[in-house]
Amino acid sequence: MIAPPSHVLVTGGAGFIGSHLVEALLREGHHVTVLDDLSAGTRENLADAFAFAPDRVRLVIGDVRLALAPQLPGDDAFGPVARIVHLAAQVSVPASIAAPLADRATNLDGAFHVLDFARDQGVAKVVLASSAAIYGDGALPADEAALPDPESPYGVHKIGAEHYARFFAKVHGVPSVNLRFFNVYGPRQSPTSGYAGVISIFIAGAVSGAPLVIFGDGAQTRDFIWVGDIVRAIGLSLFAGPTKGEALNVGTGAAITLNQLAETIVRATSSVSTIEHGPPRVGDIVHSYAAVHRVHKRLGFKATMPSERGLALTAAWMQGGASSIWDV
Ligand code: NAD
Ligand code: UD1
Repeated sequence: MIAPPSHVLVTGGAGFIGSHLVEALLREGHHVTVLDDLSAGTRENLADAFAFAPDRVRLVIGDVRLALAPQLPGDDAFGPVARIVHLAAQVSVPASIAAPLADRATNLDGAFHVLDFARDQGVAKVVLASSAAIYGDGALPADEAALPDPESPYGVHKIGAEHYARFFAKVHGVPSVNLRFFNVYGPRQSPTSGYAGVISIFIAGAVSGAPLVIFGDGAQTRDFIWVGDIVRAIGLSLFAGPTKGEALNVGTGAAITLNQLAETIVRATSSVSTIEHGPPRVGDIVHSYAAVHRVHKRLGFKATMPSERGLALTAAWMQGGASSIWDV
């Protein structure tokens, strides 16, 4: 991520992925403004960032469902915003089915407000967090050239946000890229919400000895990628690569079944937890893994964290270990 110091706005920067990104940006010498409504993110997630460079990071409690400019401090010591990483979102697929309009306000209108602010400020690059959810149950590996076919309002709004980015690039000249993250895991992914990511739920269950409940027969697959690899891809795309709102997958290219995942976590944590099965989840994609040739070609990116080590680091954090991933 070596690039001249810049002022980067990170929406959703108090969340799981965002807080690790903020630390990485500070380590490269950048100034960082976090805009987050703390609906899922926390101040605690940013404690390491504030300890590392208190004079180069700030948290603005704000809402991407509203225009950004009135919520952000004007021209000041940090200088104008030069680049934006847009991560703020409602992240749960089932929550989007339960409350589609709320999902639209955050995930589609939110992206619009970020792009509109970028146009107004003339920023050099916007990186938007899109998702594997835009593919639905299409052909595998999921390839960027495939026609999107989302199965949930979350996926619909993520592909809508991608289209807005392409519109703003084409018509208003706002440089951007859409990164389609596959299933991200690592420290700071909260297991507490009923809508949390499965690895955080399973590791928390394994550590406490509670049953791990797989929705459906467990034959469904996912491409799980370490949060540090995601942050590296964001950093590469923030300073180089596509600028016209193109989409790039960010995954490992490998899939594992939920049954394999649960067994691996029980083994790796020497847990006494049982593995049980519940009804399948409505709107669940069955199989998902990324075609990774395009992101390698355009950004030189490849995921490198071995899954056993990533899971061990996540389990160590859940048992009271470090939450920062950059000193390990
Ligand atoms: P997260 O919930 O930890 O982070 C999202 C952040 O956005 C939180 O800090 C939350 O407080 C904030 N937020 C929510 N609504 C907001 C609003 N209206 N205004 C301002 N801030 C708001 O989730 P994450 O896993 O870090 O996800 C980051 C991004 O990556 C999201 O856009 C998500 O859709 C995308 N993504 C995540 C995954 C994954 O597996 N975690 C996979 C694909 C895409
Ligand atoms: C996840 C992300 C979403 C992202 C998408 C990209 C979260 C909460 N969701 O969605 O933001 O865009 O990846 O692919 O971070 N499961 C169980 N038991 C549980 C919980 C889940 O069996 O207790 C199963 C689900 O049915 C599903 C799989 O685990 O088959 C993954 O579920 P989940 O972690 O919620 O992620 P996605 O829906 O794939």
